[in-house]
Amino acid sequence: MAKKKSILDLMKMKKAGEKVAWITAYDFPTAMFAEQAGMDMILVGDSLGMCTLGYKGTIPVTMEDCISHCQAVRRGAPNTWIIGDMPFGSYQSSDEQAVDNAVRFLKEADTDCIKLEGGVRIQSRIRAITDAGIAVIGHIGLTPQSSGQLGGFKAQGRDVKNARGVIEDALAVQEAGAFALLVEAVPPELTAFITELLDIPVYSIGAGDCDGQLLISSDLLGQFQAFTPKFVKVYANVAEVCTKAFEEYIKDVKEGVFPSDEYVYHVIDPIEEFEKLFKEYKK
Ligand code: KIV
Repeated sequence: MAKKKSILDLMKMKKAGEKVAWITAYDFPTAMFAEQAGMDMILVGDSLGMCTLGYKGTIPVTMEDCISHCQAVRRGAPNTWIIGDMPFGSYQSSDEQAVDNAVRFLKEADTDCIKLEGGVRIQSRIRAITDAGIAVIGHIGLTPQSSGQLGGFKAQGRDVKNARGVIEDALAVQEAGAFALLVEAVPPELTAFITELLDIPVYSIGAGDCDGQLLISSDLLGQFQAFTPKFVKVYANVAEVCTKAFEEYIKDVKEGVFPSDEYVYHVIDPIEEFEKLFKEYKK
């Protein structure tokens, strides 16, 4: 079994040019399969709102939702670096609120670090959490929790003015003490520049090549049906496999094909004894 990664391992991997592969997971079995496959890290993203709870976005997701899913993932992947994602409303009010909720991830769900969205505007939150001794991954570029302000789920940094903002955010995240940065949906040229500029590892979701890649498990497994972003490579079609299995099961039940003899428990006393028993109750 592979040893759980530490921040030092992630730094070493960056220096050695060894890519980090990570996914989101929200439940025990997915976490278990990810660990068995040798995943470097798992993010319990607030995307759980869409991927497992059926919300339209991440805004309704609560701390309780996140903690409960992190606990399930930790049970499934005891030897994997796990990142708790701070949901909307858990760090927006104050540095104190941010620290209190970050602490909950570690104490109640045994996560190894937390992630939160934003750069310059949440620099004091990142600093407060790192000052509390908690490892932080920053998240900039397309930040889904503020997609309303961004005009939707839109790629960022595509013009020079906006790219400057993304670079300022990257510097702010590193300066505040985060140990790594996730960049979402920006052009690969900008990601490459930021990766070169920063000392900390820079990871991408939909942002091209850098120190490692994140994908949402429900996207790569072909589970999430509402939409698939351009940057997703789909590795399986779990939705099709599940639907087909359910259709076959329904057919078997309706036709009386299931359960056949191999799927039942057999009596251990002679059948005549059972017939006597049934006779006692017959009207
Ligand atoms: O919640 C999540 O899965 C995320 C990714 C979109 C990066 O934050």
